Amino acid sequence: MQDFKPLNVTIVGTGYVGLGTAVMLAALGHRVTGLDVDPAKIAMLERRELPIYEPGLDLLMADAAGNLRWTTDYASAIPDADIIFICVGTPPLADGRPNLAYVESAARSIAQHLNGKPQVIVNKSTVPIGTGDWVARIIEEHANRAHENRYFVVSNPEFLREGTALHDSLYPDRIVLGGHPFALGRMRELYAPLILQTFPAPHYVPRPVEYTVPAVVETTLTSAEMIKYAANAFLALKISFANEIAGLCERVGADIEQVASGIGHDKRIGHRFLAAGAGWGGSCFGKDTSALVSTGADYGYDMPILRAAVNVNQRQRGVVLEKLQKHLRLLKGKRVAVLGMAFKPDTDDLRDAPAHDFIARLNQLGATVVAHDPIAIERARREWSHLSYAEASSAEAALHGADAVIVATEWKQYRDLDWNRAVRAMRSPVLIDARNVIREVLAAPAIVEQIGRELVETADEVYA
Ligand code: UDX
Ligand code: UDX
Repeated sequence: MQDFKPLNVTIVGTGYVGLGTAVMLAALGHRVTGLDVDPAKIAMLERRELPIYEPGLDLLMADAAGNLRWTTDYASAIPDADIIFICVGTPPLADGRPNLAYVESAARSIAQHLNGKPQVIVNKSTVPIGTGDWVARIIEEHANRAHENRYFVVSNPEFLREGTALHDSLYPDRIVLGGHPFALGRMRELYAPLILQTFPAPHYVPRPVEYTVPAVVETTLTSAEMIKYAANAFLALKISFANEIAGLCERVGADIEQVASGIGHDKRIGHRFLAAGAGWGGSCFGKDTSALVSTGADYGYDMPILRAAVNVNQRQRGVVLEKLQKHLRLLKGKRVAVLGMAFKPDTDDLRDAPAHDFIARLNQLGATVVAHDPIAIERARREWSHLSYAEASSAEAALHGADAVIVATEWKQYRDLDWNRAVRAMRSPVLIDARNVIREVLAAPAIVEQIGRELVETADEVYA
């Protein structure tokens, strides 16, 4: 690689975002230190085990192992770093606002170990607009006076999706950088192999044929912070829009998938993020839309479109349960299988997963729940101990003897399931397919409810 200069990079917080970023930068050739306050996590990483599930991450971590080291110690991770990323979590507080305590403590610890050479501190956690300046102030207060003006805060929001994190970080649509021009120059050096796409593509995350290079958007701290929120809010809005239209499709007899395809061909709209279903979950959309609405409220500015997107998403979870209740009537004593616990396929992340709310409500109504997930079931054992459900070892086992099933996550296993066979093992064949995974009318007698569409014979059969 021409003119490539490896930089010393420290990543504070090795969660979904931090770990992915650390491994990606090490794979690009930088010398990366991953720091986390959780010694158990660091011990696992030192043993080259991953604390999270993300497809391909184990392979990339093995390939980049020579450039990676792990620590819990700020004193050994900060002084030599050219660039320091803050990737600690910002979980929502009870009022929906993000908890910035971790960002604050990371900033303070970083400040105490800055070394007086120009160092760049990058906010990658999703933080409320204005946090970049606030972090700069915390650092100013806690750094050695002599080092003043020798550090720069940058906002470099993350757009990767869990489950496709490697693909999204190696072949991004754009890289957004906000902050002081000196620091942005440093960031361009860091990302040069990505910006120019000069790194050799790993065979397990091949470069898409049509992919060229990412757009680089350079802007101010505040605009960069706003870009992250506006992007997530817009995606959330698209999903809620699809779900709202899906409800009307059900009432007038239209098919949401054909409608989404019909509008998606308009390049101004696009096909993506129009899949109707159980609504969005995960750590970002819910938190980011609420944060934007709260920021608006702080400034006396109402954001009715975003409030509506949040309400439609909330309503959608109720829609799924209403469909179940329509067929089972009394839920007390009924056995309901829930397929899929993760908030989406290919991850073990359970944050704000629709399945959580389904199980909680079924518990409340006295139903017995049997749940299955190909990956997240173990994490659920730790994080969902407040819920009552039996674990099933397979989708088929979950359906055995059930009065109904809710498909909450569109894992490939559920798309590929032999539904005709599985249904025959149920006590009553009520299928609430909240992710539209069943693609054909079943030969076995069954009630199938989907979102925004009804299963019909394919056109060939209908018109034969
Ligand atoms: C990320 C972003 O940072 C967050 O802003 C965004 O909204 C969602 O995605 P994520 O990586 O998913 O968060 O969070 P999590 O998996 O909880 O990881 C955070 C890590 O930071 C944990 O490993 C935690 O131990 C660590 N941490 C937390 C620190 O190292 N220091 C702290 O002070 C607090
Ligand atoms: C999202 C953003 O896409 C990413 O850019 C940002 O960095 C973090 O937040 P993530 O939460 O990992 O990523 O998953 P994503 O694929 O966006 O899905 C979010 C939720 O929306 C999931 O629950 C998914 O099931 C749902 N979804 C997505 C739909 O219901 N319909 C769709 O068409 C797409």
